[in-house]
Amino acid sequence: MAHHPDDNTNVSNNEHFNDVLAQASISRRSLFKGGVGLLAVGSLPMLAACGGSSSSAPAAGLAFTAVGKSILDNVILPPGYTYTVLHATGDRLVSSIPAYSNLGTETDEWSMRVGDHHDGMDFYYIGADGKYSTKPTDRAVLAVNHESSADAHFFHPNGQTSNGVNGKKFSQFGNWDLGTRPALEVLKEINHHGVSVVELRKSDTSWTYVVDSLYNRRVTAQTPVRIAGPAAHMDDIKNFMVTAFDTTGATARGTLNNCGHGITPWGTYLACEENWAVYFNMPVGSNAVDAKTAESRRRYGVARAALSATATSGSGQGWYTPSETDNRFSRWNIAPIGSGAADDFRNEPNTFGFNVEIDPLTNGTPAKRVAMGRFAHEAAVFGLPVVGKPLAVYQGCDSRNEYIYKFVSAANWDEKDIGGGMAAGDKYLNEGKLYAAKFNADGTGTWIELTITDPRISGYATYSFANQADVFINARHAADAVGATKMDRPEWGAVNPANGEIYMTLTNNSSANRTPGKTDAVNPRGYADADGKKGTGNPNGHIIRWKEKDNLSTATAFNWDIFLFGAEEDMPANVNLSGLTAKNSFSSPDGLWFSKATGICWIQTDDGAYTDETNCMLLAAIPGKVGDGSKISVENKMVVSGTEVTAKQDTFIGAALGEANLRRFLVAPKGAEVTGITETADGKTIFVNIQHPGENTTAIGTATDFTHTSQWPGNAGYGPKGRPRSATIVITRTDGGVIGL
Ligand code: FEO
Ligand code: CA
Ligand code: CA
Ligand code: CA
Repeated sequence: MAHHPDDNTNVSNNEHFNDVLAQASISRRSLFKGGVGLLAVGSLPMLAACGGSSSSAPAAGLAFTAVGKSILDNVILPPGYTYTVLHATGDRLVSSIPAYSNLGTETDEWSMRVGDHHDGMDFYYIGADGKYSTKPTDRAVLAVNHESSADAHFFHPNGQTSNGVNGKKFSQFGNWDLGTRPALEVLKEINHHGVSVVELRKSDTSWTYVVDSLYNRRVTAQTPVRIAGPAAHMDDIKNFMVTAFDTTGATARGTLNNCGHGITPWGTYLACEENWAVYFNMPVGSNAVDAKTAESRRRYGVARAALSATATSGSGQGWYTPSETDNRFSRWNIAPIGSGAADDFRNEPNTFGFNVEIDPLTNGTPAKRVAMGRFAHEAAVFGLPVVGKPLAVYQGCDSRNEYIYKFVSAANWDEKDIGGGMAAGDKYLNEGKLYAAKFNADGTGTWIELTITDPRISGYATYSFANQADVFINARHAADAVGATKMDRPEWGAVNPANGEIYMTLTNNSSANRTPGKTDAVNPRGYADADGKKGTGNPNGHIIRWKEKDNLSTATAFNWDIFLFGAEEDMPANVNLSGLTAKNSFSSPDGLWFSKATGICWIQTDDGAYTDETNCMLLAAIPGKVGDGSKISVENKMVVSGTEVTAKQDTFIGAALGEANLRRFLVAPKGAEVTGITETADGKTIFVNIQHPGENTTAIGTATDFTHTSQWPGNAGYGPKGRPRSATIVITRTDGGVIGL
C-alpha cells in the first residue's frame, strides 16, 4: 500500500456507468437468509471444453479452523499448520560474501543477495537433465519478485541520506531535497530491486534454498535486457527506446518495482513492472521535454512534478545525483540534456512498464514484451491453454481508475513448446493483439482492441499516436481513447482451473473517485467506514470475475459478476454485501491465486483500512461460477462535502460463500502485506510471501532512532533480530496432508 502515491493520472472522460436501472427484485435479506443457497461443494463446475488441464476441484470443503483477526507481530496459522522461513531480505546467494548483518552495513553486493519486498513468485521443478520439468522432483527453483520501493531505509546504517538542505532522511514518494546522495547507498538501492532466482532442495518434507547453486541468480535494476515486440513494429519500438546506453534502442537495463507475476505455459517467468514511474527525476532548471513526451509522462505519473522548465523537484529517490557522467546514476535524470535522445536518458522511462520474461532455469537475457502493453503492470495471468488456439493473458493496471487488459497471442498453443524457454516466449508474446475491457451495466462486457486503425485512437485529441508501437507504449492513452472502464485499482488476476473463469482483485478506491454519485455496476460501492480507520470511497475493495464467451481466448465478449466484496463484519448490510463474519472479514484484496492441486482460490490482502483491527491476511475460498448469484441494488450512503448523499446502484453478486467456503487461513506480522503464493505439485507445501513487515517504521536521525513497528522474522527465530525483513515462508501441515482441505 505504501507503493501507491496519489496515483490517479486518468483524467479522461471515460465514465462510470451511472445509469440507474430498475430496482432489483431480490433483496439482500433473502440472499443472506439462504434464498440463493450456499454453494454445494460437489456442484463445482468442471470444464470439459478446456480439457488437457491437470486441475481438480476440491473433493471436500475447507477443513481448517478459521484464524481470528490478529494484530500480533507474528504469522498466525490454523491449528495443525506450521511454517518455516525459506529466505528473507538480504540472505546471501553465495558463500563468498558475509551473512546478512541486518544493520545496514553491507557494501554494494546486493546483486548477490535476496532482494527486498518479496512479491509475486513461482516454482519450477528441475529435471534430472537439469532443465525445466513438468514432473515433480526433489529440486526446483523459486523465482521471486522484489517489489522494493521507496522505503529503503533499512538497508543503510542510519536510513537514506539526502544531503539536502532540509536534511530530510528519506521520503516515500515525497520530494527529496535534492542534495547529492552517497553513491554506495544508491547502488545498494538499485540492486535490491528486481527478481531473485534460487535453487530449492527437498529433504524429507522440507524445502530449503541452496547457497552457491549455479541456478542462483539476480536480475536487478541494472541487468541488461532485450526489447522485444512485433517484427513489423520493432523499428518504431526501438525509436522510443533510444538512450545513451544503447543508441539503437534494442536493449535497456533492468527491471523495477516487480509486483505480481505470471507463469507461462512453457515454463518461464513474467516479472511485471508496476510503480516504475516514480524513480526518475527532472532536476531543477532542466530543459523542458517536448509536449508529446510531457503528455505521455503525465499520464504515467513520471516525474509528475517536473514536466516543465520550471521543475523544482520530482518524486524518485535522487538516484541520479551521485554522478553526471557515470550512467548507472545519470540514467535516472530524464531531462533533455544532449542534442538528441541518443545523448541522454530522456527516453529511459519508455524502457519500463512492461512484463519482463525471464527463463528461471538459464542465464539467458530477459526480454521486455512490448506488445503486452506498457502500464503499471500488476500481474499477468494466462487463461487455460487450449491446444491449437491462441493464448490469452489477463493483466491489471494498478492505479486508481485504471483499466484491465488482455493480450491474445497470434500463435496457437502447441504443447511441444513446453520447456522452450525464451524462444517460446518470442513465439507467443511478441505477436498478438492488445485489448482493454469495457464493463456494461447489464452484466456483459467487451474487449476493445487497441489498434492504430481505430479512428478513436488515430484521431485521439489528447495524445497524438504516431504508430502502433506508440499504442503499445502509451497503452493508457489508447484505452482512454476507446472508452475502457475505469476500475477500483486492478491488482492480481487468477484463472479457475476448474472452468477457466477469470478472477481479478480491485483493491480499493478513494472518495475522490467513488461516491454514491460516482459508481457504476462493476465498481458499485461508495460508502464510509464508520469505525476505527474511517476510510471513504471503496476502502475495502472487491473481487470481480468473468467468463469469456464460449470459453474462447479470442472472445471479444464476456459475462461478469462480483465474486466478493471486502468489508468489516460489523459494517451494515449495504456495505457487507457478501455477508462476511469475524472468520472471513477482509479488506483490500490484492494477491489472488488458484491452487491447481486443490482448486482453492487463495486471496491475499494489502490493506491500510482495517489494520486497526487486524493485520493483513490470506484467505481460502471455494468459489462457484459466474452468474450463480443474483442482481442486487446497492444502497450507497456517504457524506460528500458535508452533505449526506444516497444513491442506488444495481450490480450482480455471486452466491454467498459463508464460513463453509470462505475462511481466514493466515494473518501476517505487523505492517506486512501478504502477497505471492505458489505450491508444490502435491498441494502439500505452499510458499507465501510476507512483504514489508514494519513498513511504517520511520528512520530519522541515527540508527538508534529506528522504532521498528515489527521485529519479524527475527522475533520468530530467523536471522539477526532487529530490523524487520520481507521473507518467503514455507507452510506445511504437521500431519503431512494437503493444504486447506
Ligand atoms: Fe504492488 Fe498493486 O501492488
Ligand atoms: Ca473501520
Ligand atoms: Ca469494525
Ligand atoms: Ca500487489
